[in-house]
Amino acid sequence: MTVALTGLKIPVHIAIIMDGNGRWAKEQGLGRLLGHESGAENVREITRECSRLGVGRLTLYAFSAENWKRPAPEIQGLMKLLADYLVHERKEIMDNNIRFTAIGRLHELPEDVQKELAETSRMSAGNSGMVLCLALAYGGRVEIVDAVRRLAQDVKDGRCSPDQIDEKAIARCLYDPAAPDPDLLIRTGGDLRVSNFLLWQISYSEIWVTPVRWPDFTKDHLHEAIREFSRRDRRFGTIQGL
Ligand code: FPP
Repeated sequence: MTVALTGLKIPVHIAIIMDGNGRWAKEQGLGRLLGHESGAENVREITRECSRLGVGRLTLYAFSAENWKRPAPEIQGLMKLLADYLVHERKEIMDNNIRFTAIGRLHELPEDVQKELAETSRMSAGNSGMVLCLALAYGGRVEIVDAVRRLAQDVKDGRCSPDQIDEKAIARCLYDPAAPDPDLLIRTGGDLRVSNFLLWQISYSEIWVTPVRWPDFTKDHLHEAIREFSRRDRRFGTIQGL
């Protein structure tokens, strides 16, 4: 498969909306949590492949701000999966020189998840390979709200004036200001929406949607998305290339 990607543009930053775990489980006659379990296993496969391909950053939408509205047993199951993942994937993360990070209202997560997040981030902080970022308790609108609150405080405290607030100032207050905007946004599960994911950052991202459920999303699907990305003419609002 490496051969098939030779000469193609590999996106610096890929963001994925991993949707369809529930439907996948239902289609197999299984409970929703087994769908999430299978989804978590796939996170390992796709992360490994992105790292191997030389992707700079992979951001995965693992738990949205809206997901708190799901039934308590599903939330608890997802939190347990996350904590287990963070412990069991450390070796894989270190072996692949991946730097782990997370964005979102992380303080809202259960303490054990926060602890494992901090430990995985700390342990991998010196790695120089791909950045793996999990979006957790994350919402694009609340990220902008949190940024605006910080800027309002800066104005109140006299650190900046309202006319100094521009796009760069807002971007500096996002959860991970150093992260480049995603080049490619992949959504599995077939829905044609962005579901409050990285709203500020995806302004010029290329979007690729597949009906394939996340647990069935393979390296081949990833390669297909990258091939399609490579064919796209990115003009960023200009007429370049026309
Ligand atoms: C959407 O499926 C997916 C989620 C709500 C969370 C994604 C979680 C995982 C892939 C597993 C845990 C992640 C890690 C990193 C351990 P859905 O339930 O909305 O599917 P549906 O639309 O078919 O119901």
